Amino acid sequence: MPKYRIAWLPGDGIGVDVLKATKIVLDKVGLDAEYVHGAIGWDFWCAEGDALPRRTIDLLHNVDAALFGAITSKPIKDSQKELSPSLQSKGLTYRSPIVRMRQLFDLYICLRPCKAYAGNPLNFKEAIDLVVFRENTEDLYSGVEFSPVPAELAETLERLSKPFEPFSRLPHDQYAISCKINTFHGSERLVRSAFEFARKFKRKKVTVVHKANVVRASDGIFFDAAKAVAKQYPEIQMDDANVDAMTMWLLKNPFNYDVLVAPNLYGDIISDLCAQMVGGLGFGCSGNIGQKLAVFEPSHGSAPKYAGMDKVNPIATVLAAKMMLDWLGETQMGISLEAAVAAVIKEGNVRTYDMHGSHSTTDMAKAIAAHLP
Ligand code: NAI
Ligand code: MG
Repeated sequence: MPKYRIAWLPGDGIGVDVLKATKIVLDKVGLDAEYVHGAIGWDFWCAEGDALPRRTIDLLHNVDAALFGAITSKPIKDSQKELSPSLQSKGLTYRSPIVRMRQLFDLYICLRPCKAYAGNPLNFKEAIDLVVFRENTEDLYSGVEFSPVPAELAETLERLSKPFEPFSRLPHDQYAISCKINTFHGSERLVRSAFEFARKFKRKKVTVVHKANVVRASDGIFFDAAKAVAKQYPEIQMDDANVDAMTMWLLKNPFNYDVLVAPNLYGDIISDLCAQMVGGLGFGCSGNIGQKLAVFEPSHGSAPKYAGMDKVNPIATVLAAKMMLDWLGETQMGISLEAAVAAVIKEGNVRTYDMHGSHSTTDMAKAIAAHLP
């Protein structure tokens, strides 16, 4: 019996291309695993009314990790139109499968390493090496939203909050409320994972990104939790920055930063910025990590215009597979895989279109595989 059971979730569009390519690399690195295909994505929404069918959730309960490609999401009206006619009148609403996986399996860490590999023509600066820890289940992404705003909520807010008054005078369908919910527990465990990472990999500094001077309540609790955790790691420097200033400072001097930790929305934005500094969508990888399950993925979407063309860069997904190897404890394989990626980038002989080359997805995967022992 293979040592590991991995859920294999290609999803839509180029998700299929990049997972196919990554399989070439994983086979060469020799991971002793059974890869079990899981249904996920747009086709399953259209045919079954569920982009993350029950059988896939069951599968995820019985694997060591998952590798996920990408999914297509469309606006509500389009999603209703494309639903199979027999399902049209059932009142189904499309829900993002990746958001659901994060919530169902409490994948509270979104880990996004952003490293500039030497020789990548897309590097903003050479030698950038940042790691972003983004909270993955709370904050503005809690899913607690009101539009139109129910009268009882408006009345309560008017009673409890002075600054709410001008809004309450508006018709209830003329404003909307999205709740930013941050818990001490949720913030604390995320920040702890960032400090644990820093300790394990001898990183010097953890920067807490927030806006606690304005968003006092919810960012305040995040920052308080961060300060409490930091005390327990005296060997690691902690500093903090407002999220807006952070975007400027990151561009001005990325070398001042090391590990970054942030609530969901700020983490989403900051990690895209960091990914762009090290090559963009073809290089950005992430891990959605919980206590029992972790789902690894490239950060890009399904890029429908390139679907099935064997054209896009598979490096983001190969690096996501490297993160998966690390998480499984196959550290040596992870090191070999990253070294192979770094070597191919440095040599510069095989480059996909985003790197100003003309090689295919498969060419890139084969080149990486060829550098593995
Ligand atoms: P996208 O990330 O799919 O693609 C945007 C553009 O980036 C592409 O047209 C392409 O030029 C480039 N690109 C993306 N991946 C690349 C790669 N591996 N190599 C080289 N170039 C690459 O974003 P877009 O077009 O906004 O969204 C397309 C669909 O993907 C939408 O339905 C969206 O909802 C979904 N999406 C899904 C995500 C996920 O599965 N986690 C994340 C982001 C978007
Ligand atoms: Mg994003």
